[in-house]
Amino acid sequence: MNLKKMAALRAAHEIRDGDVVGLGTGSTAHYFIRELGRRVLEEELDVMGIPTSYQSMFLASSSGIRITGLSEHDPDVAVDGADEVDPQLNLIKGGGAAHTLEKIVDSAAERFIVIVDESKLVDRLGAFPLPVEVIPAACRPVMETLESMGADVSIRSCEGKDGPVVTDNGNFVLDASFGVIHEPGDLEVRLNSIPGVVENGIFSGLADMVIAGTSDGLKIMKP
Ligand code: A5P
Repeated sequence: MNLKKMAALRAAHEIRDGDVVGLGTGSTAHYFIRELGRRVLEEELDVMGIPTSYQSMFLASSSGIRITGLSEHDPDVAVDGADEVDPQLNLIKGGGAAHTLEKIVDSAAERFIVIVDESKLVDRLGAFPLPVEVIPAACRPVMETLESMGADVSIRSCEGKDGPVVTDNGNFVLDASFGVIHEPGDLEVRLNSIPGVVENGIFSGLADMVIAGTSDGLKIMKP
């Protein structure tokens, strides 16, 4: 079976009747949302979802999951993918440019479960360029500050659109390659103190459980 799907299906069975569920973004979260929707329809599971992106909101509502928001509820549990996971369960997220709302929803949740395939498990964070959401007017000065901190930086663009990716919040995303990140918690705080930075993709100390699909089966990691 697809290893992302294997992790997602396992996470969907962590969800109980009555839960408010934070719904992550990305291809692994996609499998989770579809399976949660299947449980809602076939098992009459009574849940509500708090999406972390427009993409997840449309997928959840078309899968039969009732949508709510943080103005109404805190999630009992959030389930989300990641781009890298280290042995301390620090993460890099934001490959889909949704990390700002993901961090808000995932950190509001009572329990945060990360779902990945084995390719995301790393000894140290940093091979994946770190996503940094930035207010458009601050793009150049923030790029220069990140470069002065030792990063190679580019403005994210995507096929099918001329110019930069625009996030669900109307901002740009910088991808900053720092090399190996030795102190993720420290870098997370330092980056967010730069004027114009909205949020960066380091999630340190947030995950309560990682479910990884591997070729040897499921691997469950806890802090
Ligand atoms: C979205 O911005 C990201 O944080 C995703 O959760 C992350 O990129 C994982 O994506 P996949 O599940 O598609 O690998």
